[in-house]
Amino acid sequence: MKRTFLHGTARWLAGGCCPCLLAGMLLAGGAAQAATPARDLDLQAHRGGRGLAPENTLAAFANAMALGVTTLELDIGLTADDVVVISHDTALNPDHTRDATGAWLPRTGPTLRSMTLAQVQGYDVGRLNPASNYGKPFASQKPRDGERIPTLAALFALVRERGDGKIRFNIETKVDPTRPDDTAAPESMVHALLAEIDKAGMAQRVTIQSFDWRTLALVGRWAPQLPRAYLTTARTLRDSRWTLGLSAADFATTPLLVQAASAGGNAPVIWSPAFNNLTAAQVRQAHALHMTVLPWTVNRRADMARLLDMGVDGLITDFPDVLRDLVREREAAPPAGGG
Ligand code: G3P
Ligand code: CA
Repeated sequence: MKRTFLHGTARWLAGGCCPCLLAGMLLAGGAAQAATPARDLDLQAHRGGRGLAPENTLAAFANAMALGVTTLELDIGLTADDVVVISHDTALNPDHTRDATGAWLPRTGPTLRSMTLAQVQGYDVGRLNPASNYGKPFASQKPRDGERIPTLAALFALVRERGDGKIRFNIETKVDPTRPDDTAAPESMVHALLAEIDKAGMAQRVTIQSFDWRTLALVGRWAPQLPRAYLTTARTLRDSRWTLGLSAADFATTPLLVQAASAGGNAPVIWSPAFNNLTAAQVRQAHALHMTVLPWTVNRRADMARLLDMGVDGLITDFPDVLRDLVREREAAPPAGGG
């Protein structure tokens, strides 16, 4: 099968935000994108590649770009003053956060939504807490003391400064329908995210992903040409609050559920499942439904090879160096059957 991994183009039109203003931000599709060789894979650095550098920091994203990944995977939240910041956690995480005195947070800190950007950036997220088990799988991570939770605008600026005209962004909205008080509402978050993407002129290079499919429905309405990635895992598939009220039990397979949730429009649709239980039959079905398949978070080389053999379109990994080397080796000596 011939596949390209860089999805369709999308370009913001001038216009404002909020549902009406966002109507003016709708994307104009169509402009041709540089051709991508068939069989290219989307090599995504999860949180910038947290196996190598402190997660979701500018240091990690710069490192990932230097490695030659195709996409930076990242997570976002909104501060109290409505700034889009890059963080996996909705509250400060003691596993990798120190206060202004250099002391590790003793427990989970305040939510990002309860702090201004200035307050958020008073903390250092450039090193793993050695007392925490969280960092054990990432013992090779190179610390960068002084790194702050960055704004999305700062990441876009970094990419521009580096003159990188190709790197893509897979941006995850961290909203939890079961914990509405922890974050901004989906509408506010998507509104702010689309405005930031628009301001930076990055719409042609962005995919928006979420476990909370309410945010993807909003993107479908307000920016219908943007690729959307439907994240799934066993936990969210058991609770229809994550899946737009659709019950997974009513669908024979997860790709059929994603197809129902994403119906309408022409934007590329990505199914992004937890990698563990993914099967070749599911990959084939998703492809037949015109979806791209992008599993997460694949850190062992053997799992990477197995998934590539299944025909996935890319992988999200904390160790982009391992994946890059594997892909190069397979290009030099393709596996039997063309995997
Ligand atoms: O891209 C999907 C993956 O990032 C989801 O997992 O928890 O690391 O955001 P998480
Ligand atoms: Ca993520």
